[in-house]
Amino acid sequence: MPDIAFVKPTLPRAGALVLPLAEEAPLAGLAAQADEATGGAIARGLEAAKFKGRKGQSVTLWAPGAGLSKVVAIGLGKSSDLLAIGAEAAGGSIAGAVAQEREAVVAADALTPSLAAAMAMGVALKSYRFDRYRTKEKEEDKPKVERVAIAVADAAKTKAAFAPMQAVTDGVFLTRDLVSEPPNVLTPAECADRCRALTKLGVEVEILGPKEMKKLCFGALLGVAQGSVQEPRMVVMKWMGAPKGKKAAKPLAFIGKGVTFDTGGISIKPAGGMEDMKWDMAGAGTVIGLMAALAGRKAKADVIGLVGLVENMPSGNAQRPGDVVTSASGQTIEVINTDAEGRLVLADVIHYCIEKFDPRFMVDLATLTGAIIIALGHEHAGLFSNDDTLASRIEAAGRTTGEAAWRMPLGDAYDKQIRSDIADMKNVGGRPGGSITAAQFIQRFVQGRPWAHLDIAGTAWSGKDLPTAPKGATAYGVRLLDRLVAEHYEG
Ligand code: BES
Ligand code: MN
Ligand code: ZN
Repeated sequence: MPDIAFVKPTLPRAGALVLPLAEEAPLAGLAAQADEATGGAIARGLEAAKFKGRKGQSVTLWAPGAGLSKVVAIGLGKSSDLLAIGAEAAGGSIAGAVAQEREAVVAADALTPSLAAAMAMGVALKSYRFDRYRTKEKEEDKPKVERVAIAVADAAKTKAAFAPMQAVTDGVFLTRDLVSEPPNVLTPAECADRCRALTKLGVEVEILGPKEMKKLCFGALLGVAQGSVQEPRMVVMKWMGAPKGKKAAKPLAFIGKGVTFDTGGISIKPAGGMEDMKWDMAGAGTVIGLMAALAGRKAKADVIGLVGLVENMPSGNAQRPGDVVTSASGQTIEVINTDAEGRLVLADVIHYCIEKFDPRFMVDLATLTGAIIIALGHEHAGLFSNDDTLASRIEAAGRTTGEAAWRMPLGDAYDKQIRSDIADMKNVGGRPGGSITAAQFIQRFVQGRPWAHLDIAGTAWSGKDLPTAPKGATAYGVRLLDRLVAEHYEG
């Protein structure tokens, strides 16, 4: 990660200069100065390359003079259409363009402080790397960039606008680290331990183990955990940031599925691609990163984060297809398929959340079903909700942050699919509408409270680079939910 600084617009004498340019806009400010210093080489080069400033367009001019190693022009599209999300994407391109330079200056002096800050956030987000376990990477393959200076008209204002974005970026990085960790390292106990780091941000962290969960009658979660030698954990994180004095409102609650590895259990998954199931804890990872983001920027809201952490393994002590377990709510579940384990974990954590915190709403995140990838691909998370206001707020926050969510239906006809002949419900509803019946299952534990469920199986991990994320763990949901809180539940 390069250092990101906000500086006055002065021409660098070396290194890279990046020019984010709007469509058809003449070179101005620092860009015009650079053009003059290079004897017009920049304007000539851009003209020859037919650079028009279109969104996503990028042109590199090598050694244009004035000591610069290169000038990179990045198109922003029409300046009247430029939103934070576009500035961030441009920042992501900038991160790629300057990775091999030691220092780079970005001429953002024509942008407002908030757009320049968003661009800086894009640079930061795209610069993420998970390289803990690489011991033999060649020097020339490593990014060299140490410092990216964003040259802006008002450095103090831009810096202030960036401060909360830095906190959110830190949250995103925490999530990406957790989700990227291999499953032999990130066991439920290890993941819980890492939550403790949030105490230094002012988050209260409480960790419950199997003993406590037995007392709480977490039969559904413990049924999943029983096949593994790794003990389960539940972590409760509290950020009480609402201004004191006012009548305390109910807290917001975010709940994450944290299956640190999902073999499927006795209903074991095929070998091909099973390694992907290390990121079956992405819901939990997202909630943890979200709590870090909210606390890091001192969000003015009371927020509870809960994660259920288990490993789903086959063994002589594993849960069987056909087992009936009793959830903390008292409802019984016939376990038809031990690979439909996430909903079992969520059932108990959600019940606990309601009983203990009486939340204003609950949003759960889970890499819950392969079926959501069939329905929506990797472009949208599946959004399920019993509350239209909450749902439309999440959809809107998804649009502004670029973490899109698409609302899916719920209904009695789907709920019928999970009726059991011998228990209150079964844990699978057959192939048709697999993501919906999974959501129906969860809904049976929310007691009619305002609730939304995000199935992030298709969005938590990306097989290709994205505008503001390298391929790998995306931390989908951290920014979306941070925005949801900021927009509607603070102050
Ligand atoms: N963790 C998986 C869902 C998943 C699949 C996430 C692919 C990411 C990529 C979940 O626990 C699971 O196994 N779901 C089953 C449910 C089925 C048994 C009803 C599935 O989707 O196949
Ligand atoms: Mn599974
Ligand atoms: Zn799973």
